[in-house]
Amino acid sequence: MTRVPLPDFPWDSLAEQTARARAHPDGIVDLSVGTPVDPVPESIRAALASAAHLPGYPATHGTPELREVAVEALRRRHGVAGLDPAAVLPTIGSKELVAWLPRLLGLGPGDTVAIPDLAYPTYEVGALLAGAAVRRVDGRTALGPERPALLWLNSPANPTGRVLGAAHLRKVVDWARERGTVVVSDECYLALGWETEPLSVLHPEVHGGRLDGLLAVHSLSKSANLAGYRAGFVTGDPALVAELLAVRKHAGMIVPRPVQQAMVAALADDAALAAQRERYAARRVVLRPALERAGFRIDHSEAGLYLWATLGEPAATTVDRLARRGILTAPGSFYGPRGGEHVRVALTATDERVEAAAHRLTA
Ligand SMILES: Cc1ncc(COP(=O)(O)O)c(C=O)c1O
Repeated sequence: MTRVPLPDFPWDSLAEQTARARAHPDGIVDLSVGTPVDPVPESIRAALASAAHLPGYPATHGTPELREVAVEALRRRHGVAGLDPAAVLPTIGSKELVAWLPRLLGLGPGDTVAIPDLAYPTYEVGALLAGAAVRRVDGRTALGPERPALLWLNSPANPTGRVLGAAHLRKVVDWARERGTVVVSDECYLALGWETEPLSVLHPEVHGGRLDGLLAVHSLSKSANLAGYRAGFVTGDPALVAELLAVRKHAGMIVPRPVQQAMVAALADDAALAAQRERYAARRVVLRPALERAGFRIDHSEAGLYLWATLGEPAATTVDRLARRGILTAPGSFYGPRGGEHVRVALTATDERVEAAAHRLTA
């Protein structure tokens, strides 16, 4: 038996810097991961509890109510039109789908998965789990005549916070259609636009009325503080979603029934989303100028949960420098070779910890 060759888990390599940051007399400010710290909204907790008594197996496809509420939320919040509720498939958070999607779609040796040159590491892991090749690309032109089976988009992007505009997205979709490439857009930060309004790949301005070959991956982790519940969904091309549903039914990839009910509440509660956006916007307003006053240049970062910051030196040096001040960040090299001089600074810490970081940066 040969094990699938996977890279080391990036965050495991931060043990030394974590220990150094923890030793700070006023405690660590951990800005290295994008994990929510604010409470799960009351409406969502009540919905979870309301389904706690149900003993039966849940449907892999989710409840009809969940599928309809998801379509309605995408229409209301993001202008997505023409989606069939049958083409919504709940996922156990979005990371498992990202990691297994190439395999679930039947990709394997001989296929190529194209991923952004700076990317969430799980896109690469998903290709490796399927035995497919990985190509990092900055824009479609870098691929030339190649025909990847699958191309990942991530706008707003982790780690850079970059947003792809309508024209860019349209070009990618047209390019992929000419080659029979499936475009999968990871939209877990779509609701967190600060300086610009991010667009879904399922917006009519992008796809021109055709959903074939397109999938959008959504997560409730960041928008509704549901990282602990494991709640996401995938939607788009009905034929592709039907393929995924067929395999996931066999494989037991089912979202627990109480979590499905929690998702219904989260997707209906626009006030909770607005309140969460406000919290992150306020933290960003504190952290960004503090980093700039400390000499950092912030690139992109117009949306999403991170500030993509550089001192123009190797990322490891910057991570060490900040760890000595008790602030833990992720080196850009976790996300691809081009990230070697940046650090990713997450906005996911309490107001008190963000103030502490700003104070340490500017003192
Ligand atoms: C780009 C991106 N996609 C997917 C995920 C996975 O999120 P979850 O599994 O919580 O839905 C993350 C988490 O940080 C992410 O940054």
